Amino acid sequence: MIIKSAEFVKSAPEVAQCPRSGLPEIAFVGRSNVGKSSLINGLLNRRRLARTSSTPGRTQLLNFFVINQLFLFADLPGYGYARVPAAIRRSWGPMVQNYLTRRDNLRGVVLILDIRRTPGQEEQRLMDWFRQIKKPCISVLTKADKVSRNRRQGRHRQVAADLGIDPRQLLLFSAKSGQGKDALWKNINALIQDKAEDAHWAASQDDTYVADV
Ligand code: GTP
Ligand code: MG
Repeated sequence: MIIKSAEFVKSAPEVAQCPRSGLPEIAFVGRSNVGKSSLINGLLNRRRLARTSSTPGRTQLLNFFVINQLFLFADLPGYGYARVPAAIRRSWGPMVQNYLTRRDNLRGVVLILDIRRTPGQEEQRLMDWFRQIKKPCISVLTKADKVSRNRRQGRHRQVAADLGIDPRQLLLFSAKSGQGKDALWKNINALIQDKAEDAHWAASQDDTYVADV
C-alpha cells in the first residue's frame, strides 16, 4: 500500500459523532496498551499520527484517520485496564459495542493481541461476537520483537491454539521492526478494496455533528 496521505479527522465519544462518511472503514480493537495506536502508525509510516503512550488507557475516544482520501481507520480505546477511571471503563463497553454494531461503513476489525500474553475471555468473546454479527476480523499478534526469534513461532502457535484458530489466521506483527506489515495490508486491502476506488472523502461533511438522542 502506498500511503499518499494520512490525516487525523476527529475524535468522537459515540457513534453519532463519528465522521459522516460513506468511505470504507477498518477499526483496531484490543486490550489497553497492546499497541493499537503504534500498529496504525506503523502501517501508515507515521511516527506520531495516532497517539501512543507507555501508560495504558491513552486512547479514550474513537479516533478517526483518513488515508489516501479513500478509506478510514478507527483507533478504538483499549479495554481491560483497571486504572482508567471507572466511569470511562463503564462507558467502554457500550461505546465500542454501539460503534461496532451501528457503523454502517465498517468493513472489518483488526483484533490485536500481545505475543507475550495468554488471550483472555475478552478476546475470545470479541472473536465469538464478530463471528455472530458477521463482521470480518483480522487477528494480529503484535510486539513480535519482544520475544526472541526462537520463542516467536512457539508463542504464535500457542496463542492461535488458545484462540481456537489456525496459525495462518493469526498475523505476526511488530511496530518496531515492521515485521508483518505487508501481510496485514494485504488483509486490510481485501476488506476495503471493492468500493475504495470510487469513493471520495467529503471533508466538508465532517462539520455536521448529530446530537445523541
Ligand atoms: P491504549 O490506547 O492505551 O489502549 O494503548 P495502545 O493499544 O494504543 O498502545 P500504544 O500503541 O500506545 O503502545 C503501548 C506501548 O507499547 C508503547 O510504549 C509502545 O511504544 C509499545 N509498543 C507498541 N507496539 C510495539 C511493538 O510492536 N514493539 C515494541 N517493542 N513496543 C511496542
Ligand atoms: Mg491507543
